[in-house]
Amino acid sequence: MVAAMESPNQLEDAPGADPLAVFLEWYALAGERGAPLPDAFSLATATRGGRPTVRTVLFKGVGDGAVRLVTNYESRKGRELIDNPHGALVFFWPALDRQVRMEGRLERAPAGESDAYFATRDRESQLGAWASAQSRPIASRAALLAELERVRERFEGAPVPRPPHWGVVHLVPERVELWLGGAHRLHDRFAYTRAGATWRCERLMP
Ligand SMILES: Cc1cc2nc3c(=O)[nH]c(=O)nc-3n(C[C@H](O)[C@H](O)[C@H](O)COP(=O)(O)O)c2cc1C
Repeated sequence: MVAAMESPNQLEDAPGADPLAVFLEWYALAGERGAPLPDAFSLATATRGGRPTVRTVLFKGVGDGAVRLVTNYESRKGRELIDNPHGALVFFWPALDRQVRMEGRLERAPAGESDAYFATRDRESQLGAWASAQSRPIASRAALLAELERVRERFEGAPVPRPPHWGVVHLVPERVELWLGGAHRLHDRFAYTRAGATWRCERLMP
C-alpha cells in the first residue's frame, strides 16, 4: 500500500511491484501535468571498449518488457549497440520532480515491428529517414536538401518503404530506479532488479 509522508511525492512503500507499470503511470501523469516533451529521454550507449556516449531520443512505448525508440541503425548509437549491447536511459520530469533510470540490454527490434512503425510516420519523415545518413559528416545543409530531393524523385508516386538502416530499438531493462524528489534532498529512491519473471526492490538512501 502506498502511504503519503511529508509531501504528495514522498512514499513509505515502493510505488508498485512492476517498475515498468509505475514508469508508464508517471509518464502519463507528466503528460497530464503539461510537462514539455514528456517522451524525451537521455539514452546512453558505449563503445566496445566501454566509453559512454549519450543523446536525447523519444520514447515510443513499452512492450514485452522493453522500452522502444526509433533511430538510424548506422548512426553512432546504432553502431555502438551492436559493438556493446549494454545501454542506459534516464527520464526526468520537472513537473513531477521524478526521475526514472533504467539499465539493460539494447537490441534491434524484429523487422516487422520496424516496418509497422515506419508506416505510421508522415511521408516527409519517411523521406528524411532515407535522405539522412545520421551521424555521418555532410558538406552543407544544401547538400542535405539536395539528397532529400533525390529521394523524393526516387519514390515519386509510390509508398516509401522503410530504409533497411532505420528501425526500432529495444532497451530491455534489468535494473530500474524510481526517484521522487523530496524536501531538503531527502529524496525517495527505489531500485528494482529483475529476478526471473518478477522484480526485487530495495529502497536506497538519497
Ligand atoms: C528532443 C529530441 C528528440 C530526439 N529524438 C530522436 C529520436 O527519437 N531518434 C534519434 O535517432 N534521434 C533523436 N534525436 C537526435 C539525437 O539526440 C542525436 O542527435 C542523433 O540521434 C544522433 O546521435 P548519435 O550520433 O549518437 O547516434 C532527438 C534530439 C532531441 C533534442
